[in-house]
Amino acid sequence: MNEQLIPGVSGSASAHTLVIFGGSGDLAARKLLPALYNLRQNNLLPEPLAVVGLGRRELDDQSYRDRLRSATQEFSRTGSPDEDSWTSFERGLYFVRGDFGVLSGFEYLKERLRTIEKEHATGGNRIFYLATQPSLFPEIIRLLGESGLSKSSGATRIVIEKPFGRDLATAHALNEISNGVFDESQIYRIDHYLGKETVQNVLVMRFANVMFEPVWNRQYVASVQITVSEADGLEGRGTYYEEAGALRDVVQNHIMQLLAVVAMEPPVNFQADSIRDEKVKVLRALRKMKAADVRSHVVRASYGEGVVGGREVPAYRDEEGVASGSQTETYVAARLFIDNWRWKGVPFYLRSGKRLAKRATEIAIQFKEVPHLLFGLSNPDGVPPNVLSIRIQPDEGISITFEAKEPGPAMRVRPVNMDFGYGESFSRVSSDAYERLLLDVLLGDQTLFIRRDETEAAWDAVMPILDSWGAEADSPLETYVAGSWGPRSAGDLLREDGFRWRRF
Ligand code: BG6
Repeated sequence: MNEQLIPGVSGSASAHTLVIFGGSGDLAARKLLPALYNLRQNNLLPEPLAVVGLGRRELDDQSYRDRLRSATQEFSRTGSPDEDSWTSFERGLYFVRGDFGVLSGFEYLKERLRTIEKEHATGGNRIFYLATQPSLFPEIIRLLGESGLSKSSGATRIVIEKPFGRDLATAHALNEISNGVFDESQIYRIDHYLGKETVQNVLVMRFANVMFEPVWNRQYVASVQITVSEADGLEGRGTYYEEAGALRDVVQNHIMQLLAVVAMEPPVNFQADSIRDEKVKVLRALRKMKAADVRSHVVRASYGEGVVGGREVPAYRDEEGVASGSQTETYVAARLFIDNWRWKGVPFYLRSGKRLAKRATEIAIQFKEVPHLLFGLSNPDGVPPNVLSIRIQPDEGISITFEAKEPGPAMRVRPVNMDFGYGESFSRVSSDAYERLLLDVLLGDQTLFIRRDETEAAWDAVMPILDSWGAEADSPLETYVAGSWGPRSAGDLLREDGFRWRRF
């Protein structure tokens, strides 16, 4: 692959101090620290790098290091850390205990940073990573400004985890606060889907090959399906999920990003803003639903009890942290349209759910039928259309379904598959999305991060749905059996247009 297509990978990162708010939390343990350790193992981390975890827990530097070592052992894609390299890595890890809802906590942090930065000679380059519960983000950002920590002698950046707001108004307010303290070029709004190799490969597939682009439009494409299906349930996050639901948790961010990447125009170059300019245009072109449209274009449901992976699982409403009368959706299916020259009239079907039959994330482009059916007589059911499917996970790859003649005297036509599998074609194991994204922050490359206007456009697109669900007390919340493919009405959404959901 031409490495220049993906900016940043060949640059070099300079010394930094990475300060993690929520440093003793789940994200730091499961994702951030294992990612940093793997980057170090691959010699991609800048030297020196100091990592400072912040939190309220009773931890000192050593107990924090021990904790992260077990977490890395448990959650890293590469397994147990190597004894010697961990010992050298952990020398740069620190824990600062304090209350980061008040100014005095930040004053204390400033003191500690002064010592740590001096010891590691990180030259005042700082990254603040917000991995706390999202309701704390605005105050942390405000206090970073008030304490003067947002300014240093080196480069300062801030990484903001999802969810970015819980609706357009709160996202806008968070942007106002963030842009008041930091310049947009310092702000990295993260959506880990953009760090997935297969998502970046959509860009390469579309724009580094000549054969897809000519048919990538309403003249040849009949419909597009984007599926983010999970077999997992809440994984101990019931309280968070009750407040979020599938639309906020996955559709507004991950699915909107997949949609933007698949539907955008070719950017003029691969600079961060050129790509983001094109993505935001797609999000802005999404047809705004009216309240009356929501019922006919969107299905929402929550799972009942069932069997997933051979194991009986409880209904959503019986999960820990979930209200017995909960109205939160764990499944959404929607039909959207992009009103622009390329896509006018092509339905984009999106679906996402927890406790579905299988884990599968896929983008499928279904092409139109051939204009004139030469083979109709021997094929009473017609000839199925071509489908290009991009498997984001698992079993990452791309397949194309096309028609072939069945061997024999009759002119019978049968669909066959041409398949590209990442695992088979490349011997290298894909890195975790967080490895790629953390490295990009260190390199100062914003390509795979969400710009302010993008996040607001994505919220704007889903607001009619949220408003309609909020306004109609009786807005239907269906139930699906855990371990199934979702409610029947999601199937009807496609059936009425002559399509059906893909099965995995
Ligand atoms: C997160 C959501 O952003 O993405 C989770 O909060 C979801 O609910 C997860 O499970 C899915 O990510 P992945 O990488 O496993 O597809």
